[in-house]
Amino acid sequence: MKILIIGTGYVGTTTGLVFCEMGHKVTGLDLDERKVNSLQSGKLHFYEPGLNDLLLKHLNLENITFTTDTQKAIKENDVIFLCVGTPQSPNGSADLQYVKNAASSIGSFMNQYKVVVNKSTVPVGTAELVSNIIKENQPSEVPFDVVSNPEFLREGSALKDALHPDRVVIGSTSKKATLIMKELYKEVTCPIIETNPKSAELIKYAANSFLALKISFMNELARLCDELEININDVSKGIGLDHRIGPHFLQAGIGYGGSCFPKDVQALLHTSRKNGINLSILERASEVNRTQATYFMEKLTNTVGDLNGKTIAVLGLAFKANTDDTRESPSLTVVDYLAKHNCNVKVHDPVVRLQSSAYIQYSTIEETVADADAIIICTDWDEYRNIQWHKLKDLMKQPLLFDGRNLINRDDIIGLGYHYISIANF
Ligand code: UGA
Repeated sequence: MKILIIGTGYVGTTTGLVFCEMGHKVTGLDLDERKVNSLQSGKLHFYEPGLNDLLLKHLNLENITFTTDTQKAIKENDVIFLCVGTPQSPNGSADLQYVKNAASSIGSFMNQYKVVVNKSTVPVGTAELVSNIIKENQPSEVPFDVVSNPEFLREGSALKDALHPDRVVIGSTSKKATLIMKELYKEVTCPIIETNPKSAELIKYAANSFLALKISFMNELARLCDELEININDVSKGIGLDHRIGPHFLQAGIGYGGSCFPKDVQALLHTSRKNGINLSILERASEVNRTQATYFMEKLTNTVGDLNGKTIAVLGLAFKANTDDTRESPSLTVVDYLAKHNCNVKVHDPVVRLQSSAYIQYSTIEETVADADAIIICTDWDEYRNIQWHKLKDLMKQPLLFDGRNLINRDDIIGLGYHYISIANF
């Protein structure tokens, strides 16, 4: 089947390449010529483990091609996936301008029956909106169906998640479109949930919001554990082994970030308020997350005292390990806090290169921690898990370690003479 992917960000590119793996021919369309040229020349414009090799493989096999030619791409393909961004508007809702633009191009240029698939994270009712925009823009009536098929892959493990999903959700009111979608996904072995578009749209927001709830629940509980000197990791393990709770997304830290959880939680809250329903638990989860990095920074102030002029080494800028994404990264909240308190901020990240007047970035961990009054671990990179801490101690002004991701074994690090402060990692 010939598939068009509109939007070559990490969801679009990964989805396209995974469909190539499943035996389909894919075209990636983007208005950004630089992205298209880069992908066509075999170079990913973002960091995602394993994906570049797959890109080279399918370019060589001529299974995938990238273009900026909207008209030709729409005419030549049967199934069109919308994988464009849905950034957050100032009022918290999802900004649908890219979805709407893509839908009007599809309407303008479609020449025969197409299945239009929303993979972007979009609010309830967007399938209907897309359908209306396509109809309005058609010069003459051509049949089509709009399907909602949300994506659940994670940055940093996108390939594994997309190749081996837990489930595929197909939200459709057309039997013909559902059959085409099932044919597309015939290689996957997971359950396929067939539902209507509105339910599929809500499933995506509910999934991300529920995972965000789990994290915020653990982060708030960790504040109590800090008071009671209880190890939150043991609590995580103890409850996670109950199969009704599950072991995932129970890791306390300095809060969730990225391009999805913060934005999608706000978008669902926006939808609920608009409909007169108070999702009070989710409101609180969002508030816990908003204050979690600052909660940790208060521990720094309580330990170090006046931060003015202190040298602080921050390890990790990415919102989590294995990505170069810093959107809504709690590390940036930490860095801002330190800069506002007139610290001399030194940062390190194995992958992210981000210019800022708030800090100086160094390429080695040793240079970063040299002369530091304290180290703060902000991202759960393996590089930081495996640091030879005994070698760093003498480089610092004082051996003070703040572990915002509970990566380090407390007894070991204290044994090395460090003063260790964490998120209830006792
Ligand atoms: C998330 C979802 O997990 C995906 O299923 C979804 O497809 C994606 O959003 C999306 O909507 O596109 P992602 O944002 O890539 O994926 O990253 P996650 O691995 O979910 O992590 C999100 C944040 O939660 C990170 O800041 C991470 O450090 C934090 N986190 C995660 C915790 O603080 N504790 C945990 O136990 C797990």
